[in-house]
Amino acid sequence: MPKSTIKGLGFYVPENIVTNHDLTKIMDTSDEWIKERTGIKERRWVNDDKLSTSLMGTYAAKKAISDSGLDKNDIDFIIFSTLSPDYYFPGSGVLLQKNLGIKEVGALDVRNQCSGFIYGLSIADQYIKSGMYKNILVVGSEIHSGGLDKSSRGRSVSVIFGDGAGAAVVSATDSDSCILSTHLHSEGKFAEELAVIKPATTFWIDKIVKNDDESYFPYMNGNFVFKNAVVRFEQVIFEALNYSNLKTEDINLLITHQANLRISQYIQKRLKLTDSQVFNNIMKYGNTTAASIPIALTEAYQSNLIKKGDIVVLAAFGSGFTWGSALIKW
Ligand code: ACO
Repeated sequence: MPKSTIKGLGFYVPENIVTNHDLTKIMDTSDEWIKERTGIKERRWVNDDKLSTSLMGTYAAKKAISDSGLDKNDIDFIIFSTLSPDYYFPGSGVLLQKNLGIKEVGALDVRNQCSGFIYGLSIADQYIKSGMYKNILVVGSEIHSGGLDKSSRGRSVSVIFGDGAGAAVVSATDSDSCILSTHLHSEGKFAEELAVIKPATTFWIDKIVKNDDESYFPYMNGNFVFKNAVVRFEQVIFEALNYSNLKTEDINLLITHQANLRISQYIQKRLKLTDSQVFNNIMKYGNTTAASIPIALTEAYQSNLIKKGDIVVLAAFGSGFTWGSALIKW
C-alpha cells in the first residue's frame, strides 16, 4: 500500500502588519492585555482589495509546488480548507485550480475551521493510501480581517485573528518517512460556542433588517473554548502517539494550531515538553485558523527545525467543535 509524505511546503501572508498598538486606536484594548492573554504582538490584515482567500492560497500553493520539485500538472487533487471563502458558493478550491491553471482535477473545500488543515491532510493521506491520487495540494487560507467587529464590542474576538495562507504538497511514497496516522473528531453540540451565524440558510440575507446585528460577526465563548481546547489537544496528541506506541519524549516537534500562546504553553507543560520540542509563531501572525498549521510547519521547516527521521506532531482544535492530529515521520 502506498504511504503519503509532505513533499513541499509554502506560505504567504499579506504585507500589512497590524500591531497591538494599532488596535488601541480603533478599540478599547491594550498591548499588555493582548500579549498577556494571547501572546500575540502583531498580525497581518489585508489592505489590498485584490487579495482574496483563494489568491493567497494560490501564492502559498505555488511556493509549495516549487518546494516539492513537482510541476503544477503533477497535482491530481486539490483540498482547500477555509472558513472565509471568496464566495458563499462555489468553494475556493475551484478558484485556486483556475488561478494555478491546473488541469481539470477534483477540487474539494473543507469547512472545519481551525482543524481544517488536519482534516485536509487526513483526506489527502487516505486518497493516497487508496492509490486514487499521487500528488495532492492541501491548502489552508483565511481572510478574517474583513469580517471582524473592530469596535470595542468585538475586541475579545477581533484582536486574536489574522490573515494568511499555507500549503502542502502531499505525495505518494514507499519510504518510512511518511504520515503515520491522522485522528479526527467533532462535537456538534458546541457548534454555536464559536461561530458566525449569519447570513445562512437559517437566516437569508434578505431578512437583514439591522446592520448592527452582532450575529454577522464571529461569536466566541472564549473561556469555554479555552477549557475545551486544552483537554481535546492533549487527548488527540496522545491518541496519535499511542497509535504508534510513541511517548512524549519521542516528539521532535509539536505544532499546535496557533489559537492562543497560553493554550500552547499549557499543552507544553502538561506533556512536559522542552521549548525545543514546541514551535509557536502566533506572536507574529495571530490566529490564522486553517492557515495556522501550514504556515507554522513551513516556518519551522525553513528554519531547519525539522530534519529527516524526526517525529512531528500536528494538532488542532476549533469551531464545531472539531479537533484532530497528525503524526508524521519526516
Ligand atoms: N482588550 C482588553 N480587554 C479585553 C479584551 C481586549 N481585546 N477582550 C476582552 N477583554 C476583557 C473582558 O471584557 C473581560 O473584562 P471583565 O473582567 O471586566 O469582564 C476581561 O478582559 C477578561 O475576559 P475573558 O474573555 O475572560 O479573557 P480570557 O482570559 O478568557 O481571554 C481569550 C480571552 C483570549 C479569547 C481566551 O478565552 C481564548 O484564547 N480562548 C480560546 C480561543 C481559541 O482557542 N479558539 C479556537 C480556535 S479559533 C477557531 O476555531 C475559529
